[in-house]
Amino acid sequence: MAGNAILLDKAAALAKRMHLSQISPAKQEEFNTLLVYTEKGLQIQLKHDRKSRRPVTLHVDFLSESLNYRRQHGGGIKQALARAVGIKPGIRPTIFDATAGLGKDSFLLASLGCRVTMIERSPILAALLQDGLERAAASHDLDKNIINNLTLVLDDAISYMNSDNKNTKPDTVYLDPMYPHSKKSALNKQEMRIIREFVGDDTDGDKLLQVAMNYAQKRVVVKRPKGAQLLTSTSPSHVIKMKNSRYDVYML
Ligand SMILES: C[S@@+](CC[C@H](N)C(=O)[O-])C[C@H]1O[C@@H](n2cnc3c(N)ncnc32)[C@H](O)[C@@H]1O
Repeated sequence: MAGNAILLDKAAALAKRMHLSQISPAKQEEFNTLLVYTEKGLQIQLKHDRKSRRPVTLHVDFLSESLNYRRQHGGGIKQALARAVGIKPGIRPTIFDATAGLGKDSFLLASLGCRVTMIERSPILAALLQDGLERAAASHDLDKNIINNLTLVLDDAISYMNSDNKNTKPDTVYLDPMYPHSKKSALNKQEMRIIREFVGDDTDGDKLLQVAMNYAQKRVVVKRPKGAQLLTSTSPSHVIKMKNSRYDVYML
């Protein structure tokens, strides 16, 4: 009961902050899509997902088994993401993740020892990220340094980078905008498909890359699906290929 009261208070505060209507538990049945505080954290809940035709939930879980597995067995500093952003023995670049999403890439980079600023422009995704960070910080199962390496900002990365005169510029800007819509793309992965329903297509990826090139000190990295067009007409300095995607690396 006390737990429920805390969750309801959190829901009320979030609804006020985001100018959303707060629905009483009794009325929840009337809505297909809800943002709900549960014992497992803040979740997007779809009663009926159009594609899978099943109920679906989405939340940020930095303690999940899959992230834990990737952290422990993903190849450490030899994995493609680490090499792409410029991690080397004894070198941990500062990272500006301009497209934070569910924060998985940021989290992996932070767990490898990088300080990461994660920017997300969707208030809903930023709320999920904030909740995920708070739960991870309160957990005894996770090295506190990882969460201390992460800073979340709710903003549009283009306007943030264009107007940032006070912070030291990051070594690396990392971009993973929504993939162009394709039947074959990783968007078929359920969580990315649902995120797309909330944030739409990232049609300004080319602008994001241009601004990032003036903001990063050393390199800009763009994650793209295998076979996708470059984000702009500028060719990358080198490309790191993976099974279904690739990193286009622009050295400055
Ligand atoms: C494909 S997801 C990123 C997934 C992320 N790399 C991860 O590991 O979870 C793209 C995200 O970038 C965000 N985004 C795209 N353009 C942005 C911009 N200019 N500023 C801030 N966020 C942006 C979208 O709202 C979306 O949540």
